[in-house]
Amino acid sequence: MIQQIKTKARRIMVTGGAGFIGSNFVHHWSQQYQDDRLIVLDALTYAGNRATLGYLEERENFCFVKGNICDRNLVDRLLQEEHIDTIAHFAAESHVDRSILGPGAFVETNVVGTFTLLEAFRQHWLSQGKPEDYRFLHVSTDEVYGSLEANDPPFSETTAYAPNSPYSASKAGSDHLARAYYHTYRLPTIITNCSNNYGPYHFPEKLIPLMTINILLGKPLPVYGDGQNVRDWLYVKDHCQALDLVIQKGTPGQTYNVGGNNEVKNLDLVNLLCQLMNELAPDLPVKPSQDLITFVKDRPGHDQRYAINASKIRTELGWTPQKTVEEGLKETIMWYLTNQNWWRPLLSTEYQAYYQEAYGQKFK
Ligand code: NAD
Ligand code: TYD
Repeated sequence: MIQQIKTKARRIMVTGGAGFIGSNFVHHWSQQYQDDRLIVLDALTYAGNRATLGYLEERENFCFVKGNICDRNLVDRLLQEEHIDTIAHFAAESHVDRSILGPGAFVETNVVGTFTLLEAFRQHWLSQGKPEDYRFLHVSTDEVYGSLEANDPPFSETTAYAPNSPYSASKAGSDHLARAYYHTYRLPTIITNCSNNYGPYHFPEKLIPLMTINILLGKPLPVYGDGQNVRDWLYVKDHCQALDLVIQKGTPGQTYNVGGNNEVKNLDLVNLLCQLMNELAPDLPVKPSQDLITFVKDRPGHDQRYAINASKIRTELGWTPQKTVEEGLKETIMWYLTNQNWWRPLLSTEYQAYYQEAYGQKFK
């Protein structure tokens, strides 16, 4: 077990707290530190779901605000009225395939939205006399580093940026702003770049929930290209532990890479998921579910391989991921099996229209 060291009571604004990783972080933080004040700021785009926050809304020291991170007046007001000392910034447009279909929203939220938050937080921090214990955690992705060949060493914090998709380019832009705000103004920003997360509350469009749900519904499992692309899978609860440590013990101005130490080829991952689903899910419409695997047209500019060297966060902050892919997938499958009332409503008209556009086939 990783030791948590609580350094101070905090008043945290979590942007994107109704999304996948943000909501897991909010659940983690409120369980660990019940006396801290948590403000979730979320625009509730297609990817945000207030139901995910559930029982937290009953708590006195929790507040949900529906709003856009690009709304400077709203952000200023929240920082001031709520005496915010920490921002954990998750809000983003996060799906590569959607960034290929429509990149504009990615520049708006990921670049302009991050800039708006940084500038508002800087003014707030200045007005409070530049307290040293304020923190701006900017949650980013390993995709900013581009693509690895099979024998390349994993990404480290000093790997040069080479983003390939509109999504990763917009995240790279926001990372540079967060870095510049430390170097220019000494605003205490910290950046984390993590690998592919998976776990509870993951929107159906991403690989693991998409495949899990399609297996349950007996629908084709669309594997891009030859399925040989590699991703480094990180269980979302391990990630939240890492972010907790970074907020409590990380050094302002630094970047920390967070990875699962779980490199798997997409096709192997889908086969493993099918195997586990065959064992764990009762009454599958198609069994063995591997029969549903279908190779489809590759994603344009599809990055071949991502992998993270997480030795800095391990040696400096004492973090290591706890879950293997097999353990994490079993937990995730069980969660999707027992929480169908969470994901079924997400297969809405919007999702079906997206599916049709992205895959060229009807969802239903
Ligand atoms: P997500 O798409 O599940 O959730 C994003 C949340 O942000 C949603 O609740 C949405 O409503 C909200 N949002 C979007 N635009 C907004 C705006 N303009 N104002 C306010 N709220 C807005 O994303 P996620 O997978 O939870 O990712 C969280 C963060 O982690 C993102 O910054 C993403 O780039 C980063 N990240 C994700 C992964 C991953 O595997 N999911 C990997 C690396 C990094
Ligand atoms: P994804 O979950 O979209 O994350 P990212 O693109 O940010 O890595 O995809 C993970 C991998 O799975 C990626 O290599 C693309 C591939 N993939 C498929 O093969 N089929 C799919 O339907 C999806 C959504 C992804």
